[in-house]
Amino acid sequence: MAHSAETMPAPAEVTTVCCVGVGTIGGGWAAYFLARGFRVRAWDPSAEAEPKLRRLIDAAWPALTELGLDEGASRERLTFHTDLGEALEGAQFVQESAPEVLELKQELLANLDAAAAPGVVIGSSTSGYSMTEMALNAERPERFVVGHPFNPPYLIPLVEVVGGERTSAAAVRWASGFYERIGKSVITMDREIPGFIANRLQEALWREALHMVDNGEATVEQIDRSITEGPGLRWPFQGPMLTFHLAGGEGGMAHMLDHFGPSLKSPWTRLDAPELTEKLRDDVVEGCAAEDARAVRELVAERDRGIIALRRMIEGRRCESS
Ligand SMILES: NC(=O)c1ccc[n+]([C@@H]2O[C@H](COP(=O)([O-])OP(=O)(O)OC[C@H]3O[C@@H](n4cnc5c(N)ncnc54)[C@H](O)[C@@H]3O)[C@@H](O)[C@H]2O)c1
Repeated sequence: MAHSAETMPAPAEVTTVCCVGVGTIGGGWAAYFLARGFRVRAWDPSAEAEPKLRRLIDAAWPALTELGLDEGASRERLTFHTDLGEALEGAQFVQESAPEVLELKQELLANLDAAAAPGVVIGSSTSGYSMTEMALNAERPERFVVGHPFNPPYLIPLVEVVGGERTSAAAVRWASGFYERIGKSVITMDREIPGFIANRLQEALWREALHMVDNGEATVEQIDRSITEGPGLRWPFQGPMLTFHLAGGEGGMAHMLDHFGPSLKSPWTRLDAPELTEKLRDDVVEGCAAEDARAVRELVAERDRGIIALRRMIEGRRCESS
């Protein structure tokens, strides 16, 4: 579909972004944009949103400072608006991070389309909906893309970018270029698949974890430790494919597939998602408390310190080998 690329500002010229919906993810995006030196205009219909947003940004700021702030980075460049139209004024990019409810997103995206300046690209943080279905009621669907981040967006580099059937190729290119310019690691997908890439992989793990808790086969703590003390240690450096390549020894992936290929059809890979009963819900919630009873903010701080240390180590290894 044609999209007036000439009405889009060059990614390098963007100085002002609008964050719509500023909970865990939208707030994380806002913190990241501020650290990159942007002016951030925020809108969220909740009465508690602004103080929560400011608390989230304050909590994220030490980590962002440690990783390095860009010129002009300041928490004072955040403005919170109670009117959506006002929040969008002057915004050259919009990041939508409202709740994952399809009808809500459809209505919100139509409203954003009506109020945002023409040509401005609008990215959605959705975890799994397709842009084709979300932009159903938008008059200019060509400017809508998925820009799927990972929690916390201010520390995890990956963003998956994909357009809907009516998104212009120019908007997809623009969004990928913009996210790359602000330091994100971008995967641009050329087709919509439910859950994109990373969530499809995460969902498979999550589904199996819930089955094991549901059947009393493993505790929440055992499941977590099986990853953090096991395969998870390899994943920051090599993804699941290279990990299995090395699991094939000198024969690499070819040996791995020839050797283990037949077991791929074993039944453990064929489970549907379990019923989320009250008991399963409570078992998982209580399991988390039993594993680590510290407050969420302490766990967030520990996670952030760990991610920073890992990113430093990975960057150091890359420098050494180049
Ligand atoms: N939490 C994650 O790990 C994660 C990761 C990647 C993507 N996402 C996606 O990010 C989006 C937001 O998720 P979250 O975890 O931040 O949720 P959240 O509940 O923390 O935040 C949602 C925010 O949206 C606001 N809101 C409610 N109605 C709204 C409306 N009509 N318009 C705009 N804002 C509205 C709420 O007040 C709240 O502040 C979802 O699409 C989700 O799938 C979440």
